Amino acid sequence: MELSLKKLFETEKSLAEANARIKNERLTAIGELAASMAHDMKNPLGTIQSGMDIIRRNTTIDPQIGEVIQRMERAVSRMSHQVEDVLNFVRTTPLSLKPVSLNTIINSAIKSVEIPRTIQVVIMGDDVTITCDEKKMEIVFINLILNSTQSIPGEGKITIRINKANGNAVIEIEDTGLGVPQSVISDIFKPLVTTKQKGTGLGLASCKNIVEQHGGSIKFQNNPTIFTVTIPIHAN
Ligand SMILES: Nc1ncnc2c1ncn2[C@@H]1O[C@H](COP(=O)(O)OP(=O)(O)OP(=O)(O)O)[C@@H](O)[C@H]1O
Ligand SMILES: [Mg+2]
Repeated sequence: MELSLKKLFETEKSLAEANARIKNERLTAIGELAASMAHDMKNPLGTIQSGMDIIRRNTTIDPQIGEVIQRMERAVSRMSHQVEDVLNFVRTTPLSLKPVSLNTIINSAIKSVEIPRTIQVVIMGDDVTITCDEKKMEIVFINLILNSTQSIPGEGKITIRINKANGNAVIEIEDTGLGVPQSVISDIFKPLVTTKQKGTGLGLASCKNIVEQHGGSIKFQNNPTIFTVTIPIHAN
């Protein structure tokens, strides 16, 4: 009796393992498909964007058409952002390391995010030069600053603090926004977790991948909302 029960448990266990394997393979296949779709969408989106630029520059546009073009431009920019999100998440290319100042990376990230005039951004602390992949590290700060911007409904402030501690650079991004919703607190760094209607939920998952690839870590707290990125100053 005991022996057959043991056998039953073992069969159930291997069945569960087989199911998990199938699920994993399916997820991998979906990931590959998403990556290849995102990649193939990049060029046509670029063509639409430059087409709209040409129309804007070469025609006297009546205000109504101008508005339509503006809406189209916003839609294209949203699609481009989502495509970039998917690609950043699935692309784990080797790091191209060099010493870069955090101030430079963060300022360049700030420039690529559309921050409303009602939101004040301040950088505090002494600059730290870290050995990192500049492009990838910029993606981390673009995502964090964009999230902060999106969490502030009207007027507000984003404070970025740079510090050094135990051979690491510690960067805190604090915002006066609405805070991380309760429903996503435990899964916030997992892919496809979003509370936004137009979000992909890949921003923080990509940040985590990139930071961990550099041997660092990322965490957050609420009240006030602070995302803390810790990166070794010298890469191993
Ligand atoms: N600074 C923040 N303040 C409040 N909530 C945040 C903040 N940053 C992230 N979140 C919450 O975490 C969720 C996941 O963030 P993540 O950046 O991964 O995806 P997203 O912003 O929803 O979409 P995407 O970045 O792919 O466009 C957000 O939907 C939001 O609910
Ligand atoms: Mg985001």
